[in-house]
Amino acid sequence: MIELRELNAEDAREVQRIYSGPSLRFLGRGPMGADETAAYIAAATARSAAQPRLQYTLGVDVEGDLVGIIKLNATNGEGRLSYILRADTWGRGFATGTVTELLAFAFGGLSLSTVRAKHQAENRASGRVLLKAGFTHTGMADGFAHYMSVGCIREGSSPQDGR
Ligand SMILES: CC(C)(COP(=O)(O)OP(=O)(O)OC[C@H]1O[C@@H](n2cnc3c(N)ncnc32)[C@H](O)[C@@H]1OP(=O)(O)O)[C@@H](O)C(=O)NCCC(=O)NCCS
Repeated sequence: MIELRELNAEDAREVQRIYSGPSLRFLGRGPMGADETAAYIAAATARSAAQPRLQYTLGVDVEGDLVGIIKLNATNGEGRLSYILRADTWGRGFATGTVTELLAFAFGGLSLSTVRAKHQAENRASGRVLLKAGFTHTGMADGFAHYMSVGCIREGSSPQDGR
């Protein structure tokens, strides 16, 4: 039901909807304007072609509805992820399903050893998502809660395989 896929220029309007309203509360930024959205998608597309590929900015597609974006930076066998879900889709398990799917790809497809994530201390929903997806809370620093997931053998193919 959740498909992680590359973004394209036709997603601009939906990306703007994602980066707006309550979803921005803990991100320390304002709504994404049209020009910024176009540049954001273009940069994601350019990074998707890099060899080796170090960054994945993937749309969270639920039956044709782009409900969010998840990012994975991968360097030296370690990953760091972040995500945002459109506010009107919260509470339906989409973030947990998205993070779980990306971890399967990170450990299975990319063979990363660890993936880290963090959230602002007050963002308890995000902490709940990370724990449900199998992350371990590793501590607090600079107002952020930090988490880590250690790779093991998991099923996972590339989001670019057309799933
Ligand atoms: C955090 C976010 C990704 C959650 O998305 P979501 O699709 O609603 O997440 P899920 O439905 O998979 O799970 C949410 C969990 O958090 C819980 N939750 C929601 N609000 C909560 C709160 N204030 N305190 C504690 N838990 C909370 C839900 O009950 C649920 O847990 P449960 O299944 O055990 O009941 C979404 O709110 C979001 O995009 N926020 C804005 C951007 C952001 O904060 N990104 C993360 C930056 S680190």
